[in-house]
Amino acid sequence: MQKFRDRKQRGERVTALTAYDYPTARLLDESGIDIILVGDSLGMVVLGYEDTTQVTLAEMVHHTKAAARGVKRALLVADLPIDTYNDPGQALATARALVEAGAHAVKLEGGVSHISQIEAIVAEGIAVMGHIGMLPQSVREEGGYKVKGRTQSEVQGLVRDGEAVEKAGAFAVVLEIVNPEAARQITRALSIPTIGIGSGDHCDGQILVTHDLIGLFPWFTPKFVSPEARVAEEIRKAVQVFIERTRSGES
Ligand code: KIV
Repeated sequence: MQKFRDRKQRGERVTALTAYDYPTARLLDESGIDIILVGDSLGMVVLGYEDTTQVTLAEMVHHTKAAARGVKRALLVADLPIDTYNDPGQALATARALVEAGAHAVKLEGGVSHISQIEAIVAEGIAVMGHIGMLPQSVREEGGYKVKGRTQSEVQGLVRDGEAVEKAGAFAVVLEIVNPEAARQITRALSIPTIGIGSGDHCDGQILVTHDLIGLFPWFTPKFVSPEARVAEEIRKAVQVFIERTRSGES
C-alpha cells in the first residue's frame, strides 16, 4: 500500500469507480482503473433501497464475490456495511469475511470516532481505506446529503479526522461531499492520497459510482456528476426495438 503514498508524492492521481458484479468489474479492470470499490451504494443503485442503511454483510459478501471474479489487476476494495464495525472485534470479523469473499482491502466510514476499528483491521494485515466528510450510513441522522467543511471548525475537525485515519494505518481516504477548499487543506495535511467524490479538484484522486458516470441510474444523478454516457437510454431503445420486432412477428 506504500505505492499509494508514492503516487501522491509523484503527483499521480488515483482513479476509482464502483462495481458490484462480474461484467462491470471486468470492464473497469480491463479499462485500467486503479481501484474498484464494491460500495454499499449497491443498496440504492442495484438493490433498490432508499439509502445504504439497509445493506447487510451477506449482500456485500455476495456482490464482492461476483466482482472479484472479474478483477485481475485493479485493487478491489469492499465496504463494511452499517452496524458491522461497531467495535474493533466486530470490525475485524467483518473485514475478514470480505477478504475471504475476494476483497484486497476494505473501506469504512468515520474518522477520529473509528480509529480503534481501523487499527484492529490493519494489525491483521488487511488494508483499510478511510471515508470522511459526508457519511452516507449516517444520512438519516444527518437529514440528507449535506456539504461538509463549510466552517473553520468543521474544516479543523475534518483535518483531525484525516490525520487520525492516516495515523491508524489507512492507505487512502475518501472525502465525500467536502467543500473544495476544505478538501484542499485535508489533502495538503496528509501523506496518504485523498480520493474525492463531490469534493472538487484538489484531491489526489477521484471516485464515482459507476451507475452515475455512465447514466445507468436515470432516476437520480448527484449534482456533482457529469455523466459520460446514457446507458439507461440505450437499454430503453434496445428493449423498445425488441418489443416492436417481437410483436410484429420478426425474430
Ligand atoms: O458506497 C460507495 O459507493 C461509496 C463511494 C461513493 C465512495 O462509498
